[in-house]
Amino acid sequence: MSNPQSAVRNPQLVALVTGAGRGIGRAIALELSAAGYALAANYRADRASAETLAEEIRGRGGCCEPFQADIGVAADRERLVQLCAERFGRLDLLVNNAGQAPARRDDMLEATEESFDHLMAVNLKGPYFLTQRVANWMLEQLEKKTIPAGRIVFITSLSAYATSTNRGDYCISKAGLSMAAALFADRLAGRGILVVELRPGIILTDMVAKVKEVYDKRIAEGLVPERRWGYPADIARAVRAIANGDFDFCTGARIDVSGGFQLQRL
Ligand SMILES: NC(=O)c1ccc[n+]([C@@H]2O[C@H](COP(=O)([O-])OP(=O)(O)OC[C@H]3O[C@@H](n4cnc5c(N)ncnc54)[C@H](OP(=O)(O)O)[C@@H]3O)[C@@H](O)[C@H]2O)c1
Repeated sequence: MSNPQSAVRNPQLVALVTGAGRGIGRAIALELSAAGYALAANYRADRASAETLAEEIRGRGGCCEPFQADIGVAADRERLVQLCAERFGRLDLLVNNAGQAPARRDDMLEATEESFDHLMAVNLKGPYFLTQRVANWMLEQLEKKTIPAGRIVFITSLSAYATSTNRGDYCISKAGLSMAAALFADRLAGRGILVVELRPGIILTDMVAKVKEVYDKRIAEGLVPERRWGYPADIARAVRAIANGDFDFCTGARIDVSGGFQLQRL
């Protein structure tokens, strides 16, 4: 990879997207770049995808730095924030996107504590404490007037409210993350930092590859009122609107991006 330092001397707005190499995070990074943001693109294991993303963004005249960090590990989260500070000097937007499904979908009468602990670390504790660290940094930046506003987006899931008894650990982690979004919205209200929760529906990415055929059928039968899969770009466009400031009086909002899945139908 060529040294991209020269490209990031004077970024305008800077966004940190966790889990940006693949799936929904990748689409969010591309959309934010198109909106004029310089990107800190976090990845955990898939370095090749993150570097391909960075090259694509740079090829379009944008700015993107891939940063490796496991969001479930405290020292990695701290290093990630330090890297953003060193390379960009500011952060305007955090998108807590990184997340994992359980390695196996096990009935909740049999699922393991190991899977539970892992998903809580990655899907809940990780973004909670990353947000705590970033919120404090944003408050300092607002005080010094180095950023005009701070914005934080939590990517939760329809699993924050819909039960799946073969992945109870995942559902609990997302329900907890939804509360984390509400808590940060409350704590940061009136301090210049917007906090919004986006709840994706069933989105076609690697995460659901193993169950694609099941969902193809159920979506066609009406599980999703719009009768189609969601795509990463559906989520990315919603993040772009938030990043543009279009939702700046909506702190604490929970926005379903799910083709109407959340409707209770009679
Ligand atoms: N797909 C859906 O139907 C759906 C629905 C609702 C909500 N969501 C949520 O949307 C988010 C993105 O999901 P996706 O469908 O795009 O999944 P995906 O295609 O499996 O991609 C997951 C991304 O998260 C990253 N990641 C996983 N664990 C990480 C960790 N510990 N630290 C840093 N990065 C990590 C991965 O990085 P590496 O590639 O480097 O491992 C990858 O970039 C997740 O929070 C997921 O729960 C997805």
